[in-house]
Amino acid sequence: MAVNLKGRSFLTLMDFTPEEIRYMLDLAHDLKAKKRAGIQGHTLEGKNIVMLFEKTSTRTRSSFEVGVLDEGGHPTFIDKNSSQFGKKESVEDSARVFGRMYDGIEYRGSSQKLVEDLAKYSGIPVWNGLTDVDHPTQILADMLTMEEHIAKPLAKCKVVFVGDIRNNMSYAWMYGCAKMGMDFVAYGPEELVNQVDRTILKRVDDVASDTGAVIQVTSDPSALEGADVIYTDIWASMGEEAEIPQKVKMLSPFKVTREMLDMTGNEDVLFMHCLPSFHDFETAMAAEQKELGYDIREVTDEVFRSRNSVVFDEAENRLHTIKAVMVATLGNQN
Ligand code: CP
Ligand code: NVA
Repeated sequence: MAVNLKGRSFLTLMDFTPEEIRYMLDLAHDLKAKKRAGIQGHTLEGKNIVMLFEKTSTRTRSSFEVGVLDEGGHPTFIDKNSSQFGKKESVEDSARVFGRMYDGIEYRGSSQKLVEDLAKYSGIPVWNGLTDVDHPTQILADMLTMEEHIAKPLAKCKVVFVGDIRNNMSYAWMYGCAKMGMDFVAYGPEELVNQVDRTILKRVDDVASDTGAVIQVTSDPSALEGADVIYTDIWASMGEEAEIPQKVKMLSPFKVTREMLDMTGNEDVLFMHCLPSFHDFETAMAAEQKELGYDIREVTDEVFRSRNSVVFDEAENRLHTIKAVMVATLGNQN
């Protein structure tokens, strides 16, 4: 049956079938080609979207904003200091107001329940721009990037996520890999292996048993063997900055290095990262932490800049995939 995502929200990849995810990836490939050809789109003409950011962003904000403008729509940006949302007005009331004025809502913040409530009460498509337990638009961009660089189907690929294996990116990858029948390993310290959410693991294992995916969580470095992708993320996610000392101690052995890439046995292994990244001391936070005695780099500068690294392709693909999500769920035609 033809895929039709009109009117749907995009809260987590767990809500979509493999065919629906395939459809959004194919649409993103097409939209990328259209953008490269300099063709202005019209599929979001007359559509107004609101972008709610309770946490900061570079890529996600830019992608929603440029994406909607590229297709003829109009964005409104609201950050946590510039509306009544969540302070003087409940999520339910705000959602009902946005639903009267806009055609779609992007939300970035901590709570997955909040993004679900926005969808429940607004009556219009809501798109998850990151929560504490998911980052589904990032996974679409990463899959698109893999398809551009790896000459085999996603279902034959192995992704190893290294580092803070109980964060939003690790869980988002579990969901994506389970759905697309991929091999996924969350590789991190033993103490974090035990903190990975068992309810999430049960849910992804149920999906994996249908799709043929394999989802593992381990502290055993032999899991790196045969990886097509080594993926990492910053050690202290937004809101976790006070935990930097413990995180550095715990995660330093999991810094992505050339030696770690070599352990995959795959000289063409891709290094991937959602960004932002600490790979040198050219940021205020990395420099401040260095003064305090903490090296917060989760990857060496050599790997970040190596021929294996596709991090800026991923960043660009945020635009094409986020645009695909908006066009699929809200577009006038596609
Ligand atoms: N990867 C990502 O979500 O980047 P931003 O935080 O800049 O949006
Ligand atoms: N885990 C990171 C992802 C940033 C895109 C965070 O939540 O800050």
